[in-house]
Amino acid sequence: MSTSSGKKYKIVVTQDLGKDVMPILLDRPDFEVVVWHGTGPCPRSWLLENAVGASGLVVLLGNKMNAETFDTAGPSLKVVSTMSVGYDHVDLDALSQRGIRLGHTPDILTDAVADISVMLALMASRNAKQTAHIVENGEWPTSVWAPYLFCGPQISSSWIKPTPTVGFIGFGRIAQATLSRLIPFGYTHCLYTTNPTSPRDTAFESGILEKHPTLKEVKRVDLYSLAKESDVVFVLAPGGDKTRHIVNETFLKSMKKTAVLVNTSRGTLVDSDALAKALKEGWIWGAGLDVVEGEPNVGADHPLVKEPRCIVLPHIGSATNETRLGMATLTAKNLVAGVLGEDMPAEYKV
Ligand code: DGY
Repeated sequence: MSTSSGKKYKIVVTQDLGKDVMPILLDRPDFEVVVWHGTGPCPRSWLLENAVGASGLVVLLGNKMNAETFDTAGPSLKVVSTMSVGYDHVDLDALSQRGIRLGHTPDILTDAVADISVMLALMASRNAKQTAHIVENGEWPTSVWAPYLFCGPQISSSWIKPTPTVGFIGFGRIAQATLSRLIPFGYTHCLYTTNPTSPRDTAFESGILEKHPTLKEVKRVDLYSLAKESDVVFVLAPGGDKTRHIVNETFLKSMKKTAVLVNTSRGTLVDSDALAKALKEGWIWGAGLDVVEGEPNVGADHPLVKEPRCIVLPHIGSATNETRLGMATLTAKNLVAGVLGEDMPAEYKV
């Protein structure tokens, strides 16, 4: 089997998807698969050189998918399959103008990212960065039982606060899975903001309340009410121009001094300078970040990395063995279906 002209479909893979997944592509007699085997991410020049005449591209977050990429590939390009749920590295207008389909990896990573979101909230509130560092330096304090040493605000808080409130900027699958994990912590109030066009209405909110009988309120609010009333804020909205720096000085100044901010979506949503200032000047208690604007160029001298109450992880939200294997498999299957013109297991309809 091959293209109508008898030629094989050319597939370009910008990073080896592993021995359990690559056979989905390599074992097909109708595919000619070109894989980047160099160290580190594939250079743009390699991608452009190899994309010429490709029918499908398997890409990661760092591979810019824009008009230049699509035009270099040419009219043969049917599908871009990204091993990510996010697609802010893909120019959707340029893609749809050329009739190219997009595969991505929703659902499979929801649990892993929700897990790490809760972990970051706990780490940030309980001084995990500072205290682990002290132990690593061999400086275990002799006075660990000093009454208030290393204390931070308590995240599980039903008996402490009258209305324990969690806020979500973006309230999709990962945010809802994070909420489920926080219900046993005693949260009774949930506030959220979403893109004004998302279908979030009273029926949706009743569904959330039914699922969590101890939750007293779930309410869509404006950004500043969310900042003001939440004990912990999770940033879980898509990246891109519309959400850039949605967490800025004004937002951070509106937050509670004891609150914690967690970002496990895209670095661009949070103004790093404003957050560093907020932490330094005590506008908020702490932050847990799996993503930072400008990554991977985030060095040890980055103002957020230097903040003792800011945990920074290198975008590992979905990095469990099981999730990454699932993502890679879905990416390969999306690619095959897209090239053959079949229904893709997870197509992002542009
Ligand atoms: C995604 O898939 O978009 C995530 O950011 C990867 O962890």
